[in-house]
Amino acid sequence: MVYLIWVIKMRNIIVGQSGGPTAVINSSVCGVYKKAKELHINKIYGMVYGIEGFLNENFIDLDDYLSDDESIELLKRTPSSFLGSCRYKLPKVEDNEKIYEKIFDILDRYEIDGFFYIGGNDSMDTIKMLSDYALEHGKSQLFIGIPKTIDNDLPITDHCPGYGSASKYIATSLKEIIRDNASFGVKKPTVCIVEIMGRHAGWLTAAASLCKGDDCEGVDAIYLPEVCFDLDEFVSRVEKLAKKKSSIVIAISEGIKTGDGKFVCELSSSSRGVDAFGHKQLSGAASFLASVVSSRTGLKTRAIELSTLQRAAAHICSLTDVEEAFRVGKKAVDAYSRRKTGVMVIIKRSYDTLYRTSVSLYDIHDIANVEKGVPLGWIDKKKCQMKKQFIDYAKPLIQGELLPIFKDGLPSHLVRK
Ligand code: F6P
Repeated sequence: MVYLIWVIKMRNIIVGQSGGPTAVINSSVCGVYKKAKELHINKIYGMVYGIEGFLNENFIDLDDYLSDDESIELLKRTPSSFLGSCRYKLPKVEDNEKIYEKIFDILDRYEIDGFFYIGGNDSMDTIKMLSDYALEHGKSQLFIGIPKTIDNDLPITDHCPGYGSASKYIATSLKEIIRDNASFGVKKPTVCIVEIMGRHAGWLTAAASLCKGDDCEGVDAIYLPEVCFDLDEFVSRVEKLAKKKSSIVIAISEGIKTGDGKFVCELSSSSRGVDAFGHKQLSGAASFLASVVSSRTGLKTRAIELSTLQRAAAHICSLTDVEEAFRVGKKAVDAYSRRKTGVMVIIKRSYDTLYRTSVSLYDIHDIANVEKGVPLGWIDKKKCQMKKQFIDYAKPLIQGELLPIFKDGLPSHLVRK
């Protein structure tokens, strides 16, 4: 009975996507939509371009896109942020209260009382600020965070939706690169340096280690941002490897830093600017290192930056990841129906023989702006390799496939009109 009263009282909700996209971020939108439908929520809005679009009342009605199961299946297979994304940092209330008044005015006018934000560390800060403001000012709206980031650096949750699929793409690409790099044998020794995303956390780069198996020797070295980078050590490792083998493939994180705290990519003359969060745009570390190796050793080098490809590769997404992304979206709406606010959905792993997870909620204050790195104990610093603990952690996350729906030989996607 109490539950029925809540169902009747529920009005409209809104969901947004923020920060870097992933291959499965849209599955979380599907999860939100499905659960909201089950609960007979009136209108389910999507904010176009995150909170930035919200401030311009740039909304869509998700019923216009998702009312049949085919569209939901297509959206699950669509990479990037269907709703559009932003990197927008809310100011502190004391610096600009007007913006908060505007947000709550919009929420009131559209009769929205549930606000869902799918994002990483910075986006969870938005949930924290808005839920705190609502509580302090007696507003009834509820704010719930839905985790997403290929970087896998949100704390508390065992892992983040988006990470498994990016890892699967990275490990697959490394397997393919290793095959290619070895094709000419000693006739054409080549050092291939592959740059992988993950600003301050090495989770993604560590995923390069997953390519090792019966049919693949694995990468020759892995450099994570958690470990201080030494250029001379790097070159001498390459030289030693080159004495033993003709094909060398090394995975480096875009965020590797030297002892004085400088990003390696900043050592290159083509270093870039900063984004709205004040994050330096990281790119070019692999090509910088390739040119150093080539000039110091004379070896043939090649630099590959996986860049956007690693977070957009829905064609090789992990089914486990897709399903979990969907599940965290559903859980967020379930939390809303129970009048929770200022929380993020987290994934818990049970430690028995089979990989099993459950979802629950956690206080956003312990999550926003906190970055979780790879445990140092999981890195074999001497060999520049990942230890078994990491492999055991990451392997289950890349399992299963969700094949694209092909049309004219290409995967089809659901896009906003
Ligand atoms: O948000 C995660 C991330 O993919 C990082 O790994 C990367 O450094 C950053 O986004 C790149 O962001 P952008 O596409 O805005 O340059």
